[in-house]
Amino acid sequence: MADRYLSFAGTRPGRFVTRRLGLPRPAPLLRWSAARPVPDGGLLHLTAGKSRLDLGPVLARTGHAPDDATDRPAAVVLDASGIRDVEGLDEVHAALHPVVRSVATSGRIVVLGAPLDPADHHQTAAQQALEGFTRSLGKETGGGRTVNLVRLTDAPAAESTLRFLLSPKSAYVSGQVIEVGAHESAAPHDADRPLAGRTALVTGAARGIGEAVAETLARDGAKVVVLDVPQAETDARRVADRLGGIALPLDITAAGAGARIAAVLPDGLDVLVHNAGITRDRRLVNMPADRWRSVLEVNLASVLRTTDALLAAGALKPGGRIVATASIAGIAGNAGQTNYAASKAGITGLVRSLAPHALAGHGVTVNAVAPGFIETKMTAAVPLLIREAGRRMNSLAQGGLPVDVAETTAWLAHPASGAVNGQVVRVCGQSLLGA
Ligand SMILES: NC(=O)c1ccc[n+]([C@@H]2O[C@H](COP(=O)([O-])OP(=O)(O)OC[C@H]3O[C@@H](n4cnc5c(N)ncnc54)[C@H](O)[C@@H]3O)[C@@H](O)[C@H]2O)c1
Repeated sequence: MADRYLSFAGTRPGRFVTRRLGLPRPAPLLRWSAARPVPDGGLLHLTAGKSRLDLGPVLARTGHAPDDATDRPAAVVLDASGIRDVEGLDEVHAALHPVVRSVATSGRIVVLGAPLDPADHHQTAAQQALEGFTRSLGKETGGGRTVNLVRLTDAPAAESTLRFLLSPKSAYVSGQVIEVGAHESAAPHDADRPLAGRTALVTGAARGIGEAVAETLARDGAKVVVLDVPQAETDARRVADRLGGIALPLDITAAGAGARIAAVLPDGLDVLVHNAGITRDRRLVNMPADRWRSVLEVNLASVLRTTDALLAAGALKPGGRIVATASIAGIAGNAGQTNYAASKAGITGLVRSLAPHALAGHGVTVNAVAPGFIETKMTAAVPLLIREAGRRMNSLAQGGLPVDVAETTAWLAHPASGAVNGQVVRVCGQSLLGA
C-alpha cells in the first residue's frame, strides 16, 4: 500500500500545509544503488577527548571523500571514545554544535564511544551519556538524516559496521547503539560480492521482507535457498529462479525441519536467516490457546529447534552467521500481541544467550534485526488509522521498506562483521515505541 502522505508532503502545497499545521514532514530516503553507493558530500572526522583509535585508514575505505570542512558533509564521524568524565562531554557539544546544521539531507552522523568500564563510574556515566545524546540528536535532525552510536575498541574490527552506517544502506536505521568487539574478521576477496562462494538460507522468503533479504544476499554473491511453506511453493520458486538459487518448500515447524535443511545442504551453510513469522492478534482475554501456540511455534520454537539441529549437525560452517528476526513489538509490547511480543522478545533472549558460545566455538555470530513498521502485506492488513500511526511515529516519519531490513541483514552476514555479535539492531527509523 503506497504511502500517499509521503508523496504529498514532498510537493510544494504539501510542504506548505505540513509546516503550517505542524504535521510530520517525512523526506524521501536515499537508498543504496550501484550507481550511487555513497551520498554526495564528504566525510567529516571529528574528535572529542583523547582517542586511541586509528580511524584514518578505515574511514578512507568507506568510499566517502574527505570533507574540507566548508561544504555540507554527507557523513560525520565524531570519535568520543576517549571521553572518561562529564567534563569531556563539553567537547561533544563543541564538536557537533557548529556542524550539525550543515549536514546534508539523508546524511549520516555516527558517534563512536568506548565499551563501558564497570570499574570506573565516571567513565561509565560519560559514555552512557553518549547514548542519550545520540538518541536525542536522532530525533532532532530530520531530513532523512540518521544518528547512531557505535561502541568499539579497535577501528579495523568495526570497518564493516562503519561502512554500513555511513552508507545509504542504513537509511532506516537510526538511534541505535551497536557494540563491536575486537574479534578479527577476514576481509572478503571481492568487496562488491562479499558473500561469493557462500550459501545463505532464508526462511519465509517467498515474499515480503524474506524475499528482499534473499535478493540482497544474492546481490552480495550468496547462493540463496528460499525456504517457505509448501502452499507458497510457486512464489518461492519464482524468487529462487530469479536469484539463481534453490527453492525449499518446507514448513519450518514440521518435525525434523532442521534435519531436512541439513540434508538439502550437504556442503553446509554459511548464513542462516530466521525470517519466517506470523501474527495472530487478540487481546489476551480473547486469545484461544491455538492462536497463542501457533505464533510461539513459528516465531520462536522452530527458530530454537532448527538452530540447535543445524549447530548439532555441524551444518553451519566456521565463520557462519545467524540472523534472527525480532520486532520492536517484542521490545515495547503491543496491545493485542501478547503472543507475538513474547515470541519476538524470546528471539532477543536466544541471541544474547547463544552469541558468546557460538562465537567461542567456531567464529559463528548470532544477531537479530528488530523491524519497526515495514511496508509489507503484513502491515498493509493493519487498519488505516493504526497503520498511519505506525508509519509516522518515528524520527523519519515514514515506514521502512523490506530492503532496509535486508541491507541490515546483509551487513550482519558480511564476512567482515565477525566482531558484531549478540546485537539486536532495530530497523525502525527510531520508532517512538520501545524507544
Ligand atoms: N512487516 C513488519 O512491519 C514487521 C515488523 C516487525 C517484524 N516483522 C517480522 O519480519 C518477518 C517477515 O515479515 P513480513 O512482513 O515479510 O511477513 P509476510 O507475512 O509478508 O511474510 C512471511 C513469510 O513467512 C512465511 N511463513 C510463515 N510461516 C511459515 C512456516 N511455518 N514455515 C515457513 N515459512 C513460513 C510466509 O509464508 C511468508 O512468505 C516476520 O518474522 C515478522 O514477524 C515484520
